[in-house]
Amino acid sequence: MKNNIILIGFMGSGKTSVGGKLSRALHYDFLDTDGMLEEEFGCTIREFFAEWGEEEFRKRETMLLSGLSKKLTKTVLSTGGGLPLCPQNAKLLREMGRVIYLKASEEETVKRLSGDTTRPILAGEDLRVKVHRLLEERMPLYKAAAHYTLETDGKSFYEIINEIECIALI
Ligand code: S3P
Repeated sequence: MKNNIILIGFMGSGKTSVGGKLSRALHYDFLDTDGMLEEEFGCTIREFFAEWGEEEFRKRETMLLSGLSKKLTKTVLSTGGGLPLCPQNAKLLREMGRVIYLKASEEETVKRLSGDTTRPILAGEDLRVKVHRLLEERMPLYKAAAHYTLETDGKSFYEIINEIECIALI
């Protein structure tokens, strides 16, 4: 297996914040698929969804990942919350490195996402209802895509990063 660490999980699970700090601690590079896509699109993900729709966004995510899959080394990669749901992407991620699912509880997720206007997937429905439904759909897929599931509720960044470093050494 390659020496990359891949963070997956639901929106608001801390993939980007944990990923940045973890990469500094390990002296690894850091990449974030959402950030890379926004750079490529020249607009925000919300704007891209409004103009081109979710299906096109998913195609672009998969294309980005296919391009990255061969060349990454010593990199922490944070992924968009929908990326590992496609079986083809999940397979690629597992070949690219250790896949870690950052799992926050439903309650904590709702707390973190309340007031968020940047995520088009959350628009137009009561946040609690939406998060509940999406987590039910997605959690089994995150678990299946990951080599490890890491519960994050009540843990500091320091504790989470420590746990990931231990996992990465196994
Ligand atoms: C999405 C999650 C977002 C972003 C897009 C779609 C999803 O990333 O890729 O809005 O379907 O869960 P974050 O998980 O970084 O918020």
